[in-house]
Amino acid sequence: MKDKILEQFARLYAGSASPLIIRSPGRINIIGEHTDYNEGFVLPAAIDKAIYVALTKRGDDEIHLYAADYNESHIVNTASVEISDKHWPNYILGVVDQLQKKGFALGGFNLLIDGDVPLGAGLSSSAAVECATAFALNELFGLGLSKLQMVQAAQKAEHVFAGVMCGIMDQFASMFGKKDHVIRLDCRSIEYEYVPFELKNYKILLLNTNVKHSLSSSAYNERRRQCEQGVAWVKEYHSEVISLRDVTMQMLDEYVLPKDALIYKRCKYIVEEIRRLLQGCADLQQDDIKALGKKMFRTHEGLSKEYEVSCGELDFLVDAVKDNPDIIGARMMGGGFGGCTINIIKEDAIESLVQKLKPLYKQAFNKDLDHYIAGIENGTSLVHQNIAVPGV
Ligand code: GLA
Repeated sequence: MKDKILEQFARLYAGSASPLIIRSPGRINIIGEHTDYNEGFVLPAAIDKAIYVALTKRGDDEIHLYAADYNESHIVNTASVEISDKHWPNYILGVVDQLQKKGFALGGFNLLIDGDVPLGAGLSSSAAVECATAFALNELFGLGLSKLQMVQAAQKAEHVFAGVMCGIMDQFASMFGKKDHVIRLDCRSIEYEYVPFELKNYKILLLNTNVKHSLSSSAYNERRRQCEQGVAWVKEYHSEVISLRDVTMQMLDEYVLPKDALIYKRCKYIVEEIRRLLQGCADLQQDDIKALGKKMFRTHEGLSKEYEVSCGELDFLVDAVKDNPDIIGARMMGGGFGGCTINIIKEDAIESLVQKLKPLYKQAFNKDLDHYIAGIENGTSLVHQNIAVPGV
């Protein structure tokens, strides 16, 4: 990938110095879905699919962007960074905007973006772009930001330039990922712990519905508001409550159920999921992957029936593996409405499962089923240092 990018960069920005290249990975999440913006816990990891950003400084105030996936360019001035009608520049420009709002005077730069994170598959390609950009600009202009500050700028960029009021999980996992470990992140205190994730003869299999989840931002924001409404009703009686993290089932039964059955259902899923994740972490500590797997199936039930962020295709794929003894856990992953299911499966059963599922899926939905085996890798890093070309 690095050589391909260097070669493309040289062709595209002839005369430029050799670029800095930053790699920022996509993510998976074992359990703890939609809990991040409710100040609960999540259990994500960075994967072996990543976004790469290559860049050099320019002598002027122009920002030149090029996306290899779309074979498209976009040029703006540093003084007029705005939301673009094209989708992809926003994840880069949103970060530029955040850094400028923090008072950093960025100069112009040439940037190329490429990678192998499938887009719209729920593997957080957008967070990977944002983190790669934040890391790259921090490096290029010597801004002195901490990793957490970069994560926060990346998250804010998603809020402002993509309109998704996301939590911190995706950006955090992309930036802080650690090979062969999952991250147990407390989204309230931002304290985190790396937990070894050793699956022995099991693997993480992602099944991509090929339903793009990009239309889900309004539903995502609506879920967030529904959770906030539930909290507001509980707060009328318990002023100490700040988020669903502080809410018990008893409180929901008393204060939310009489008011609105739908909001109750949403909040119930979250309160149970926060608890489920903590129990799942205990399973991991006891090396009981099977118990964790069972909880993943229950998470899917909740996401599908109570939180209602699944879709027919995701439900089909989880249903299809539910009674298969080679699969110890499966569920939809990420924001929902499409993307991938995550499956913990016996390594030697992968091939036959995929061969069996592909035609069934095609028959049911007239769509192709893609699959990836996800390895757990390190988070955002510099993979190529810029070397000044003599005379440039
Ligand atoms: C998206 C968001 C995350 C998180 C997940 C659901 O990926 O970006 O912050 O809320 O959905 O767990």
